[in-house]
Formats: sequence, structure tokens, C-alpha cells
Amino acid sequence: MRELPERLKLRLSKPGDEGGMQLGAHTFVNGGRIRRKRTSGRGRPGLTLAERADRYVLYQQAVQDPEGDVVRVRRMYERIYGRTPRTLREDFCGTAAFSAAWVKAHRENRAIGVDLDPDPLDWGRRHNLGKLRPEQARRITLLQEDVRTARTPKADVLVAFNFSFFLFKQRAALLDYFRHCYAHLKNDGIFVIDAYGGPESMEKRRERRRVGNFTYIWDQHSYDPITHDASCHIHFEFRDGSKIERAWTYHWRLWTIPELSELLSEAGFESATVYWEGTETSTNEPNGIFRPRKRAEEDPAWVAYLVAAKTDPR
Ligand SMILES: C[S@@+](CC[C@H](N)C(=O)[O-])C[C@H]1O[C@@H](n2cnc3c(N)ncnc32)[C@H](O)[C@@H]1O
Repeated sequence: MRELPERLKLRLSKPGDEGGMQLGAHTFVNGGRIRRKRTSGRGRPGLTLAERADRYVLYQQAVQDPEGDVVRVRRMYERIYGRTPRTLREDFCGTAAFSAAWVKAHRENRAIGVDLDPDPLDWGRRHNLGKLRPEQARRITLLQEDVRTARTPKADVLVAFNFSFFLFKQRAALLDYFRHCYAHLKNDGIFVIDAYGGPESMEKRRERRRVGNFTYIWDQHSYDPITHDASCHIHFEFRDGSKIERAWTYHWRLWTIPELSELLSEAGFESATVYWEGTETSTNEPNGIFRPRKRAEEDPAWVAYLVAAKTDPR
């Protein structure tokens, strides 16, 4: 049996999940309780590594792969429509790392990022957009709006990554959101989401992973088998013993792939293709290569993409 895939550890958190923001019954909690363990200097407490750290930076280092995602999404699109997508809407964009990678990838690419919370948007503007050339940054628009009501020009690609839509816990709410996505895509447009699951995602458990000079901890805190409600945290630990506990907290519903496929179809999408991750035969570990699949072997912990096409010429 394989461990939680690296990809799950990689993807299960993103810097946008903070702000203590209320969304109906769902809250993204801005945690980040800093545990001091060390003092330095002559009795005066020095700053611990945890106190000096920027949670967005830790997060990006630990869990994001925007450049890889841009390539994957482009190929998903080309496979259906035989041309290259240029316009993107990134829902729940947080710090807009994906949008930044998107405009960097080609001089004609444009992106609109939508997020309710001004904090990750500001951080993203300063750091992710700040690293772009002015001409690249001009091709990104960031909107501080609700993804369910944000009106934007129809895009080739709409992404909602890092399981963000899991916060819509009711079927009607998720369907409503999927319909909104459908309406904001061109006829030859795709909506790409990710999902995770498997028996290990329904257990209380902690996974630790070393990243550079800190340790990333994915903490599956609770899971309710009746409602599929799950609460998870991310903690960071440093080599001086200091910690950022509950740097990010997620309260969401674990949706299953059949539920998502059916809802996408009900929202009007002509097809929904599951991209399933392959396995490295020598190690029996997930290999980071996702391909369209109709069926899969049992898997204790998986991450997959769903690609919903508004129209599907195939
Ligand atoms: C899991 S994070 C998203 C991470 C982002 N996709 C990334 O890859 O960094 C969830 C984000 O969704 C935002 N959010 C939650 N509900 C929202 C809503 N209804 N409309 C817009 N943004 C929302 C939060 O502010 C937070 O930044």
C-alpha cells in the first residue's frame, strides 16, 4: 500500500486559505499560532525562525507548482480543441501564482484572478506579480470578488485549484457555482478542478515532509463519514524548534469523483474527463503524470483533475 501521494502532500494547502473569512457556515481560519522555543542574546528573546517566516513563502515552497499546472492545463485544452488557450480565469486565486505563471508562459496569455480575501491578493500583487515584467503584469487583472457572482469576459480556461470548491458543502451550492463557471467560458472552453480522496483521506492522520529548512505537516484533523465534512490544518516546524501551528486551516466537504462528474454534466458541460495519476513501477509511488482514465485501481490516497469541456468535438 502506498503512502499519501507526494502530490497530495504537495497540493493540500495553498496560501489563500486564510483571513478568518466567513462564508456561510464555512470559515477559512487564519491560524498561525507561533510557538517560541528558543531565546537568544543576553536574556533578550531573539526572533525564532517561525517568527521570521512568511507563511505565504513557506506555503509556496511546500505545496505549489504553478508552472507545472500551466503546462498540464494547456495540454488538457489542446487535446480537446486542437489549439492553444490564451485566456484564463483563476477562481479562488489566493496569491494568483497560477495566473502569474500563465501570463509568463506566453506573450498573448491573459489572466483574471478572483478571490474574496484582500490579504492573499495584496501579497500576490507584491510578490508574484511584482516579479513579472511590467508588460506581463499588465496582462493580469485581480478582482476581489465572490467567485459565484464575479462577472468576467468568457475565458478559454477556468480553473478552481487546490480543492477550493470543496468549501461549497451543499449540492445546490456547488451546482450553482459550476453553472456560473459554465457561463463564463467560451464555447470551446474548459473548466479544470482538482479533487482528492481515498480511504486515507478519511482518517485522522498527520504527514510530515521536509522542505528546504523547514518541515511541512499536513494534519487531517477530523472527518465525518455521514456528512463527508473534513477539517485539516497545515503546520510548519523549524530547525530551532519553533513552529507555526495551524498556519492554514480548511473546513470542507470531501466530494467524490462521480458526484463531481454528475454535477458538471448537470451544469451543462458536454464532457468531464478524469485525469488520473500514474505510478512509478519501481517504487510504486505516484509519478506526477496525469492521463485521462475511465477506470482506476483502488488507491488509498489519490489526487486527480477533472476537465469539463463546455463543448466537446471529439
Ligand atoms: C484553497 S485557497 C485557494 C488557493 C489558490 N487556488 C491557490 O492555488 O493558491 C481558497 C481561497 O479561496 C478564497 N475564497 C473562498 N471563498 C471564496 C469565494 N466565494 N469567492 C472568492 N474567493 C473565495 C479564499 O479567500 C482563499 O484565498
